[in-house]
Amino acid sequence: MTISEVRTVTTHQRLLRWVEECRGVLQPAAVHWCDGSEAEWERLCASLEASGTFCRLNSALRPNSFLARSDPADVARVEDRTFIASVSPDDAGPTNNWRDPTELKAEMLERFRGAMAGRTMYVIPFSMGPLGSHISQIGVQLTDSAYVVVNMRIMARIGDAVLAELGDDGNFVPCLHSVGRPLGDGAPELPWPCDPENKYIAHFPETREIWSYGSGYGGNALLGKKCFALRIASVMARDEGWLAEHMLIMSVTPPGGPKHYVAGAFPSACGKTNMAMMVPTLPGWKVETVGDDIAWMRFGEDGRLYAINPEHGFFGVAPNTSYRTNPNGVETLWGNCIFTNTAATAGGDVWWEGLTPTAPGGLTDWLGRPYSADSGEPAAHPNARFTAPASQCPSIAPEWEDPAGVPISAIVFGGRRARNAPLVTAARDWRHGVFLGSILNSETTAAAGGAVGRVRFDPFAMRPFCGYNMGDYMAHWLEMGAARDPSRLPRIFWVNWFRRGADGRFLWPGFGDNCRVLRWIVECAEGRGEAVETPLGLIPRPGALDLSGLRIPAGDMDELLAVDRDAWRGEAELIREHFASFGDRLPQELWAELALLEERLEA
Ligand code: GTP
Ligand code: SPV
Ligand code: MN
Repeated sequence: MTISEVRTVTTHQRLLRWVEECRGVLQPAAVHWCDGSEAEWERLCASLEASGTFCRLNSALRPNSFLARSDPADVARVEDRTFIASVSPDDAGPTNNWRDPTELKAEMLERFRGAMAGRTMYVIPFSMGPLGSHISQIGVQLTDSAYVVVNMRIMARIGDAVLAELGDDGNFVPCLHSVGRPLGDGAPELPWPCDPENKYIAHFPETREIWSYGSGYGGNALLGKKCFALRIASVMARDEGWLAEHMLIMSVTPPGGPKHYVAGAFPSACGKTNMAMMVPTLPGWKVETVGDDIAWMRFGEDGRLYAINPEHGFFGVAPNTSYRTNPNGVETLWGNCIFTNTAATAGGDVWWEGLTPTAPGGLTDWLGRPYSADSGEPAAHPNARFTAPASQCPSIAPEWEDPAGVPISAIVFGGRRARNAPLVTAARDWRHGVFLGSILNSETTAAAGGAVGRVRFDPFAMRPFCGYNMGDYMAHWLEMGAARDPSRLPRIFWVNWFRRGADGRFLWPGFGDNCRVLRWIVECAEGRGEAVETPLGLIPRPGALDLSGLRIPAGDMDELLAVDRDAWRGEAELIREHFASFGDRLPQELWAELALLEERLEA
């Protein structure tokens, strides 16, 4: 495309200069400005079929949908290759990998030079949040992956409408991405090009830039999501007085009303999508979905906290998504979806562990091999994902794209803890709630590379996603609630659906039955919930949780709600180490809360 053709696309000089500069470095064979149209989607999907990246699914079963199998070395986020390149290491903090920005850019430029040879460089203007919302932000991603373009078309609002919104000089976050596999000199095209040995997921918070190299998977490559909407946006939010969080947003309506909105932060693969789409088992209760992964929140003039979902689709965990666990999730996937690293059925559909109680015959596994049930290996990768339009979700809230956002009544933090963390705890006030968020810990999952099942602190479910020093982030949370009318602030809770008995089974049924906990949460938010004190926080008074129709042994309920003093003395010691790792960046208020916890444990 010549410059004069480009000028008809946009007159934004800064954008044009940046694209030209990147073209000079990456040396693509062509540049394509994405318009976001259906016709463009069809052309790109056809080209992905031709290159072997996509298999079209059986249109009678799942129209306009595709299966991609990734390189086995590119299946999840890579936290050890994710960098926060702030000028000072202290501004990245102990939970991030820090690199000097000048050095990192020089190192990455060597990788980027000529990286798009033989490929098309796609220019994707995208909006995080509804176009025209004062909470929304615009980014432009350059990528050499058509797979990324079609995923971005589902996950964000992209194309001409975004360029129009950007005008001649609107602000945008530049997001540079290459899979790092140039073509040319006879290098063969691969179904999943990447550079697995040399991945970089780099963030420059001061200049608000994102550079990603070597991976085509999920949060590493769809740069609007974790890189922009969390890591860069968390920095913007700190500077501008708002919150960018790893949270679902849902509405809950009791039988006689009124409707409440709840936001929930759980670490990766710990239940946000499932909770956001919950089908309550309590009669007359209604849940609707606003978002399943990210919330951007600002205080309104009325003193309430308003949230938008900056995304436009779901990039959800496939394994264990079923009619039993998440019927709204399954129904969202009827068509117009991309599946990555699931298994394929003989009839040209997708399958994953848990979708049906037993695997159908004739499966092909995520590596493209005939699947044998006795192999002991799963047919779908544990981090297999679906990319689905949010609008297709049967439980989507009519107001999910409201540019004003929805007012939040309760914030729920949740981890995956086999022991110690009770089913639900209510914070006494905002400061105590921030303390509960700051001590959240959880078992690691397959959503990121590395060991699975290791308990680690994951404050606010943001450990992998905070673009600055997490101690400062905690201070920002404290400050956001200070000097505000407490009756207008969301009430804060901590939940744990994953506590296990001595025999290893989950003690709590979870999924739709989580509405029983949600009921108590809503009652507390209305000032009616009946609670008793524990050293950790408030738990439901015996009988205050609606367990009607459930058959849970009384011993299990006791265990689910127990705050064991000995165990928590041990936890408090770990919290002490965790807090100490932030040095003087850890707010004094949180040390004070820890001292209160320790006092209550001895009382
Ligand atoms: P990310 O997209 O990685 O951020 O994950 P997420 O937080 O949206 O997690 P998701 O809802 O996809 O759930 C991850 C896994 O936890 C799935 O295998 C679910 O079946 C399982 N899960 C979700 N909710 C529950 C629950 O209440 N109980 C139990 N036992 N498992 C659950
Ligand atoms: C997560 O890991 O929290 C996800 C998936 O939501 S990814 O987009 O890959 O980050
Ligand atoms: Mn997530």
